[in-house]
Amino acid sequence: MQNNINLIQPDDWHVHLREGDMLKSVTQFTSRINRRCIAMPNTKIPITSFEKAKEYKETIKKYSSNKNFEPLIPCYLTDDLDLENFRIGLKNNIFIAAKLYPSNVTTNSKSGVTNLKSIYNALEILEDENKLLLVHGEKSKKDLDLFDREKAFIDDELNNIRNKFPQLKIVLEHVSTEYGVNYIQTNNNIAGTITPHHMMLTKDDLYINNNINPHHFCMPVVKTEKDLICLRKAACNNNSKFFLGTDSAPHHIDQKISKESLKPGIFSAVSSIELYANIFEEESAINNLEIFSSINGPKFYNLPVNDTSITLSKEEWIIPEFIAQNTIKVKNFFGGKKLNWKVQDLKV
Ligand code: DOR
Ligand code: ZN
Repeated sequence: MQNNINLIQPDDWHVHLREGDMLKSVTQFTSRINRRCIAMPNTKIPITSFEKAKEYKETIKKYSSNKNFEPLIPCYLTDDLDLENFRIGLKNNIFIAAKLYPSNVTTNSKSGVTNLKSIYNALEILEDENKLLLVHGEKSKKDLDLFDREKAFIDDELNNIRNKFPQLKIVLEHVSTEYGVNYIQTNNNIAGTITPHHMMLTKDDLYINNNINPHHFCMPVVKTEKDLICLRKAACNNNSKFFLGTDSAPHHIDQKISKESLKPGIFSAVSSIELYANIFEEESAINNLEIFSSINGPKFYNLPVNDTSITLSKEEWIIPEFIAQNTIKVKNFFGGKKLNWKVQDLKV
């Protein structure tokens, strides 16, 4: 039996760190394990200019527990983005990418894109600068069933973007369906991030007595067992088109349990790599974890693979129920449950 695994230090290619006291509390968990992260720009005031991105990066660094930690910031696309500012941000590597939130699909997406055509000029710049488009792949349309939104986005929106910008590299974030996985597998210049929760939960876990369990509620919502199995295969089978992105998204406990403002988001940063290790072990694929956690991502982003490593040891531990610090209290995903792997030391 294998008791230790050394991994090239992972990166989290999709995480929410927020702002203010929440940022102060949660950044340490992502920076403890990962060398880099893509910090999503859907802060209360979205990151729509390179000045804001610069400031955000510095603030995150200030609260990180590891000097080497590098937050990477995408630009939040809006219908009326300042294109000159956008180009400067990309040229100077202040923006790593651009993030498309269709308007009103998820947390802090009010300022997102209402009409795809309005961002075509920005996408042209992005393609010119050889930078990536990150998409929240859900169509926002009133009467569209929550479970059909990923497919509708792919069919009605993503296809148009790919036809118009064939050279543009795209990441379909937190892919949640078999349809999405197959789409990524059969097309060029597109990859996907996969969260732990989409590989651990199905829609049966989303409801308790016909009510939504707020702690299992995220966007895109978790899907069927068939989708889950397909996602596990995509992650665990050495497939270079899929990589780690937790979509760890903290919300204060009060906002998760309030009926009026049920916020989507699952907070997994405290145990992210260990959750993935459990999944890979269940799939008898623990030796494929490194390629998913540490190699496929940088390759797709055209960035160097990290030169530092971490060690995971076989050690049972219970994830604490919450993180709590000053005014902040957030429920941990899988809190109170047992994991088999634990990060030991960080060799820097
Ligand atoms: O569940 C989610 N929470 N999905 C998202 O796309 C956004 C995130 C958040 O920011 O809370
Ligand atoms: Zn997200």
